Amino acid sequence: MYIYKVGVVGAGMMGAQIAEVVSYAGLPVVLADVNETLAKRGLESVRAIYQARVDKGKMSAEQLEEKMLLVTVSDGLAGLNDVDVVIEAVSEDAKLKAHVFHELDQICPRATILASNTSALSVSALGAATTRSDKVVGLHFFNPAYVMRLVEVVPGLATTPQTLDDAVNFIESIGKLPIVVKECAGFLVNRVLMAYVNEAVRALQEGTATVQEIDQEMVLFGLPVGPLALLDTVGLDISFEVARILYRSYGPRMTPAPLLEAMLKAGRLGVKSGHGFYDYVSGEEGGRDQGLERLLQEFRPNADHAAARWNRSRLLLAMTNEAVIALQEGVASATDIDLAMMAGIGYPREKEGPLHFADRLGIEQVLHELEDFAETLGPRFWPAPMLRRMVDAGFTGQMAGRGFFTY
Ligand SMILES: NC(=O)c1ccc[n+]([C@@H]2O[C@H](COP(=O)([O-])OP(=O)(O)OC[C@H]3O[C@@H](n4cnc5c(N)ncnc54)[C@H](O)[C@@H]3O)[C@@H](O)[C@H]2O)c1
Repeated sequence: MYIYKVGVVGAGMMGAQIAEVVSYAGLPVVLADVNETLAKRGLESVRAIYQARVDKGKMSAEQLEEKMLLVTVSDGLAGLNDVDVVIEAVSEDAKLKAHVFHELDQICPRATILASNTSALSVSALGAATTRSDKVVGLHFFNPAYVMRLVEVVPGLATTPQTLDDAVNFIESIGKLPIVVKECAGFLVNRVLMAYVNEAVRALQEGTATVQEIDQEMVLFGLPVGPLALLDTVGLDISFEVARILYRSYGPRMTPAPLLEAMLKAGRLGVKSGHGFYDYVSGEEGGRDQGLERLLQEFRPNADHAAARWNRSRLLLAMTNEAVIALQEGVASATDIDLAMMAGIGYPREKEGPLHFADRLGIEQVLHELEDFAETLGPRFWPAPMLRRMVDAGFTGQMAGRGFFTY
């Protein structure tokens, strides 16, 4: 199927970014919201993204106007009656999204693909809200969509291979990197990422390292931003909601770190509230934040200092172990998992992703370290069974010439 005209529902942050990406690729796009005022606000956000490009000298003012001609607005969903694909980007609320999908099903031509930018809700359930679950697919863009190349393409239970192919081709046609991911809570990237950031919060909670030490160590490893600064940017409210969804699906190993909930209750939501793991109000970088100190004190008398220890392996192997579990489940191939983690969270290019990292460290070493962490820090570190199978069969990583990859 040739996709030409695109609709975006929800002209908020992600909707505007996606409309910009689509129009930048030269395709016409209709941006819809509950009313014209909100849709036009989205249109202004699209213009602001282009304007920043003009200001940096990356495009001319004429080019900006040409691109903006491709973006039109719709008051409600009526203006989406002739598009080839709709990308839904309304708020992350299952009932609201199901309602929007039901309406889209009535308004859009039968051939139109209905896609959702949901971060964590079920694509299959959205399909069930329509009479065309074969044409419903997840298209998970990353924030900011005009920078991040990755789009997770997620088929629901009833999505046909044809729809999946069309979705992949469409994502390529707008200059993005599509990675097909089997439907599971958090899809691939957020699931693997959460195992890692949650572990960072636990390390802080135990008093084994400071906020700055944890973040600096991970930046030194090559990640673009530390895990705690990342949580502050995403918002602790949104992060906690994702953590809860993952816990519901994967059980105890994904138990949200208690400090995360305590921060939320204390109103420390991160950048948006002025305080999170960092203080964004006083401007004292690296200064001691009394509010955070008080919260940490509540945890520390209970912290098991004998068991607690800090080294970055703890965070990196939490991420690698979850990536191996996802691989075992067939969520994506080893190559795609590493590609997605590089494109989705900026896993350092020279380290080529969490599975290449494991191959380089040696699978035996990964297994032993995880066993050690499972004993001292808790069973959430229980090694993915695949690791033991690999060691038994001599797939011990780069040194042996074969591991997750062949060398
Ligand atoms: N924020 C992120 O970093 C991020 C990243 C990836 C995916 N997502 C996902 O993208 C989606 C949107 O997130 P956001 O951060 O852009 O939200 P947002 O709150 O900025 O925007 C949501 C928009 O949807 C509109 N809306 C609500 N009900 C509507 C309806 N019935 N019809 C039409 N429009 C309606 C709202 O008016 C608002 O403009 C969510 O599913 C979220 O999980 C967000």
